[in-house]
Amino acid sequence: MDFVHPSTRHRSRPTVPFILLCVVFFTMPSDLQAGNVLITTSLGEGSHYFVGKTIGKYLVKHGHNVTVLISKAYAYRAENIEDSELNFIVFEQTAEQIASVRERHLAFSKNALEPNNVAYLLKMMKTARQGVADDCDDLLGRNPDVIHQIESGNFDVVVYDMIWLCSLLLAMKINATAVLSSPMSLPTFTAYAHNPVNLAYVPSFMTGYTSSMSFLQRVNNVVGNQGFYPVLEYMNQPFNELRERHKIRPDLTGTISELVGIYTDLFLFNLDFAVEFPLPLLPNIIPIGGITARPVSPLPSDLEAFMQSSGDEGVILFTLGTYVSHIKSEFLEPFAEAFGRYPQQKVLWQFAGEPRFKIPPNVKTMSWLPQNDLLGHPKTRLFIFHGGNNGFYETIYHGVPAIIIPLTGDAIDQGVRLKHQGFGIVLDKTRVTVDTLDDAIKTILSNKSYSKMAKVLSSRLSSRSMHPGDRAAFWVNHVMKHGGDYMRSPLKDLNFIQRNLLDVLGLFLVVASIILVIVYNCVRCSFRRCKRIFFSSKQKND
Ligand SMILES: *[C@@H]1O[C@H](CO)[C@@H](O)[C@H](O)[C@H]1NC(C)=O
Ligand SMILES: *[C@@H]1O[C@H](CO)[C@@H](O)[C@H](O)[C@H]1NC(C)=O
Ligand SMILES: *[C@@H]1O[C@H](CO)[C@@H](O)[C@H](O)[C@H]1NC(C)=O
Repeated sequence: MDFVHPSTRHRSRPTVPFILLCVVFFTMPSDLQAGNVLITTSLGEGSHYFVGKTIGKYLVKHGHNVTVLISKAYAYRAENIEDSELNFIVFEQTAEQIASVRERHLAFSKNALEPNNVAYLLKMMKTARQGVADDCDDLLGRNPDVIHQIESGNFDVVVYDMIWLCSLLLAMKINATAVLSSPMSLPTFTAYAHNPVNLAYVPSFMTGYTSSMSFLQRVNNVVGNQGFYPVLEYMNQPFNELRERHKIRPDLTGTISELVGIYTDLFLFNLDFAVEFPLPLLPNIIPIGGITARPVSPLPSDLEAFMQSSGDEGVILFTLGTYVSHIKSEFLEPFAEAFGRYPQQKVLWQFAGEPRFKIPPNVKTMSWLPQNDLLGHPKTRLFIFHGGNNGFYETIYHGVPAIIIPLTGDAIDQGVRLKHQGFGIVLDKTRVTVDTLDDAIKTILSNKSYSKMAKVLSSRLSSRSMHPGDRAAFWVNHVMKHGGDYMRSPLKDLNFIQRNLLDVLGLFLVVASIILVIVYNCVRCSFRRCKRIFFSSKQKND
């Protein structure tokens, strides 16, 4: 690669950095337009925050200026040196409201062991409904400095989460391009973007179905899916009132749920067809499944030493996630006992607080686990977790078989895909005992088909044109420059009759009826004529 003539080499030296600079300059994507991005996906907690922040980090990598809006309840996020490339705006909340925010998070732990059904879901939603609206009122009504800072911040794009539509109101208020990010997989919710979802083969949220459904399952699938929208409408109602009260874009018509489809330019869904049941997506719906999964960074030395100490038997990772931090001891105790039955195996357990039962010597508890880096460690043999979507994609990315114990919301859907793809086992949370755990662990450690399948899926997921983080950044940049109007589904402009082609079907029915009548009459006529000819010839012969 030496193109410089030897005799001119000494003179050309100083120009090398310049040439490099030119190369870098000219190979930069010509459409890159450094923009100001506001990310407001949750108040600052849980998997929704992690996905939002990860999108932010990739946007920074691609040259954008990113600011993350969080509540004072999670102000410590702003101090994390690992996220120093992000700017933070913290909005004030009263001590009372902060207590309410924390209480709502704890509700996940308290309710996690209730049966996963509609009643449970409604209960969770009811707790959340007024709380999230109050948070929004705090932001819009009691933080004039923050609102001023946002209004004068020249934000081109707001990345928001369907779970806190207050951030959509904020995007509308400052007239910025809006990008929805869904940390959950939620294929049927692409209908919000007017994506046609065929319930004949797309299983609805929390049904536990695969894409191949029996007749009764399809009935359930339709009922479950259609039944969800009124519930969401009820959940979102307070945002309509807030919008009216704070006079946000009265020129736009539609309820807040409709505005998700009308106002948003781009939809980022945390799914990837490497492991998802197939369905078609509109061009403005970008799959970013596995955005939090990445190549490993080295572990802290004590943790590395622990991993190495496991020898050939390897390590089991166990976590119930960030939302379920204070689950009751009776649920956790069988895990300790089951792990004790595998003394050769080491176990890393994410555990907040002091366990009130005996922890076997092969188990190490830690209040926080660097999950991605541990899953990527060659000694890791099995991941036991609550079925969160981020963990689901991280374990696939690193090719580790898993046991899912679905605790909340969408975890049941991850469980279905885990089972369907054959890289793990699902355990019912109401049937967790030492024996069921022991059985599941033994099966995965002894039957190589699970880890083999996990490796196959890992390879499938990694075979892609770019990392989902880069893809998200690319598309956010794209709509920043071009908007997303041209990608919107034309379905949004059609009424029910047009959308379902009922008018065309009607015309076909009319035409078919006319043809039938004509054919019938012709047949009748010719039959009569035949009869007449037949009879008249008969008379002649007589
Ligand atoms: C980036 O965003 C921050 C916070 O919104 C702002 O203070 C800063 O001026 C911005 N930087 C540039 C270069 O626009
Ligand atoms: C919002 O911005 C668009 C262009 O980005 C502009 O055409 C429109 O008039 C603005 N609307 C309001 C209400 O400011
Ligand atoms: C291992 O598991 C797979 C998938 O569940 C199953 O088909 C196979 O029969 C199992 N093999 C043994 C030896 O149990």
